[in-house]
Amino acid sequence: MAHQESATPSVDTLPTASASRQFPNPELIDQDGHKVRFFDDLVRGKVVMINFFFTTCESYCALDTARLKRVQQLLGDRVGKDIFFYSISVDPKTDTPEVLRKYRERFGIGAGWTFLTGNESEITAMRAQLGLLAVGIDRTKNDHSLAVLVGNEATGQWMRRSNMDKAEVMAKILGENLGEWRGSVGEHRSYSEAPIRIEGKTNGELLFKSRCLDCHSIGRGDGLGPDLIGVTKKRTSAWLRRWIVEPDKVIAEKDPGVTEMVERFKGLAMPNLSLTEREVDEIIDYIEKASVAFGASSDRGVRKNH
Ligand code: HEC
Repeated sequence: MAHQESATPSVDTLPTASASRQFPNPELIDQDGHKVRFFDDLVRGKVVMINFFFTTCESYCALDTARLKRVQQLLGDRVGKDIFFYSISVDPKTDTPEVLRKYRERFGIGAGWTFLTGNESEITAMRAQLGLLAVGIDRTKNDHSLAVLVGNEATGQWMRRSNMDKAEVMAKILGENLGEWRGSVGEHRSYSEAPIRIEGKTNGELLFKSRCLDCHSIGRGDGLGPDLIGVTKKRTSAWLRRWIVEPDKVIAEKDPGVTEMVERFKGLAMPNLSLTEREVDEIIDYIEKASVAFGASSDRGVRKNH
């Protein structure tokens, strides 16, 4: 996938939403087995974030979930109070409530974010109605649309946003543009001051910020994945390259050290993000330089990681 950056926010008009309120209203089931109606129980009168995913999606779904988790954290306790997150699985056969509950736990998702599924054909119809089904692609579970829908049902404002949006931008849209403004979200006071683009001096930095940062920090401690400070010293470059290109294959080989690492991160597998060799080299170069900048160049910093 070509890496696209978040563009200036654009308001998409939903074909069926807003004024006419012809929202889909199928029955869905949540991670705890509760049955709900999509419009009546989840959307009516609320500020919401809606996305579609499936738990066995090995690539971008995990990145989406990680990014949305940061959005949730930025919004703090408003999520569950006046802002609600819904992730709907398009693969009900695999993603039973039990599987959804475990997925939610693996990502350490807090209150106010519900994982749901339902009848497959109704979900496909819903996606089409909400404009989240990519046009011209087979309606199979693999055409997972990399977009999320955010909106305020009460005011009829809806936007389709790219999954590549910065978490801070998404939080501002949900918290300030759509919701009542109730205090600052993140470091900028108004949406107009928000950096829309993910900035990076090099392509490696840009890639790291848009593909890795939601799960990894460099020198700020573990997140959903391990802190990557000094990792270019700790691992051989061949191992590192292969890991970033195809972590799924490396995990499948069940090397004890790797298995231990996956277990330490609650079984959350690092996603295969379909990066090219060149992109991986650029990212590694960035991690190396950033590690030096954060002080891992010294022996002390390196030894700490063993
Ligand atoms: C959805 C979260 C997620 C994303 C996105 C992600 N990773 Fe990971 N990463 C993990 C987890 C979790 C682990 C720990 C191993 C496991 O559970 O698979 C990991 C492990 C690693 C390791 C091994 C660290 C060590 O100490 O050996 C490296 C290197 C790494 N990731 C690099 C990256 C890079 C580079 C990117 C961006 C291209 C990236 N990751 C994107 C979750 C993620």
